[in-house]
Amino acid sequence: MRVIETTAELMAARDGIAGSVGFVPTMGALHEGHLSLIRRAKEENGFVIVSIFVNPTQFLEGEDLDKYPRKIEADMQICKRAGVDILFMPTPGIMYERDELAVMAPATMGYILEGNRRPGHFDGMLQVVMKLLNLANPTAAYFGKKDAQQLALIMQMARTYFLRCRIVPCEIVRDGSGLALSSRNVYLSPEEKQRALSLSRSLKRATKMVMTGERSSQKIEAVMREILENETDIEYVEIVDRAFRPLEEVEIGNTIILVAAWVGTTRLIDNLWI
Ligand code: PAF
Repeated sequence: MRVIETTAELMAARDGIAGSVGFVPTMGALHEGHLSLIRRAKEENGFVIVSIFVNPTQFLEGEDLDKYPRKIEADMQICKRAGVDILFMPTPGIMYERDELAVMAPATMGYILEGNRRPGHFDGMLQVVMKLLNLANPTAAYFGKKDAQQLALIMQMARTYFLRCRIVPCEIVRDGSGLALSSRNVYLSPEEKQRALSLSRSLKRATKMVMTGERSSQKIEAVMREILENETDIEYVEIVDRAFRPLEEVEIGNTIILVAAWVGTTRLIDNLWI
């Protein structure tokens, strides 16, 4: 595995690769969720590039940029063992210049739900993903469905800017208890982890309701809120279509049920694609 820290080196290395390239951008603190993206990239491509970059522009003032988990040594081992060909680990100084031209999230999609709670987060996220996609110039790039709105916005950016790479949505990975894997789970105490399970439990209950014929978003949301409210501080429970428009009735094949909630000082999100 080659570790690269500069953009010039990455572009030169990329130019030397023939055949398909799979790319997995990450912020490090790698877990099974990231590994599933890397494995899929490896299955579908001759060559795999992974990036680790804790992108400062997608963190808001007062968010966890400074304490975001960093595990460089372990991450390098994980990538090596997974058969990653190139690991790109730039610094903010390498990725950004001062007063730069910006990619902006769309006015509606970028500022609802996650964007409403974290205004500007998606601008920074899209800015860095655009840079990383241009640098790695992949055939396909792999993103988890856990960050559903991020994924939808990246797909829209690829459409808007006529990017050539395929954006591949990948399934959410959960631990044995049902908790969706996230680098932020390390912030949870054992007791908080138990409470955090209410997110996946509420989604499981929603699945059951839909499977037994319930379609009313209002009714499903109410039951989910009941499950969540004793264990968490709910930020939102929303039922939307794949373009993130609110749905009054669940539409099979076109629905995402989203939840965001705080457990102690940790903000968690989870979702279900129906
Ligand atoms: O999902 C993430 O880890 C980040 O938002 C991404 C896509 C790597 C951009 O920094």
